[in-house]
Amino acid sequence: MDYYDEIADSYNELYGKEQQAKYEFISKLVEIKGNVLDVGCGDCQLAKHFKVKYYGVEPASKLVTKSKHADFFDIRNIQLCTAEDMVLNNKFDVVLCITVAHHFTNPLLVFSKIKKSLKPQGKVVVSILKNSQKRKELHILLTELFQVETHNQGKDIVFLCSSKL
Ligand SMILES: C[S@@+](CC[C@H](N)C(=O)[O-])C[C@H]1O[C@@H](n2cnc3c(N)ncnc32)[C@H](O)[C@@H]1O
Repeated sequence: MDYYDEIADSYNELYGKEQQAKYEFISKLVEIKGNVLDVGCGDCQLAKHFKVKYYGVEPASKLVTKSKHADFFDIRNIQLCTAEDMVLNNKFDVVLCITVAHHFTNPLLVFSKIKKSLKPQGKVVVSILKNSQKRKELHILLTELFQVETHNQGKDIVFLCSSKL
């Protein structure tokens, strides 16, 4: 069983507060509004913080089906698969990848799908641990696909991405 499925019952206790601090930081960088896609959404905690049309993608299905935040999202809008396998039929105002991009086996595929599904003024927020071995590779890839601003948030580095002019 996948690590995140295994810890589904205690996920919120283990990571809830840490992730919340990231959401608060990100909400100061970008307005979280409209159609929002949360890639690697975990237990969908983010849905509780923002009144938006919330969509998610999460391969560890137990995190979603056992989520304590079930009142804040519609399970029909959550794809239980990896980001590599997600199918995006909507256009998004904001796409969030919070502490997940280091897990992507094919980040080029994932971010190309995200780029295609972004509204013209849309934003992509990618938060990764500063000490991630994938940091440089991801930064280069994002810079090829988007216009990128870099921000510091505690142990994380946050890439705020917009469409290239
Ligand atoms: C540290 S958790 C972060 C969860 C969530 N973003 C949050 O803020 O609470 C990493 C999540 O990425 C998911 N994940 C792992 N590989 C993935 C992939 N290839 N595509 C999408 N999500 C993935 C895990 O199942 C886990 O829920």
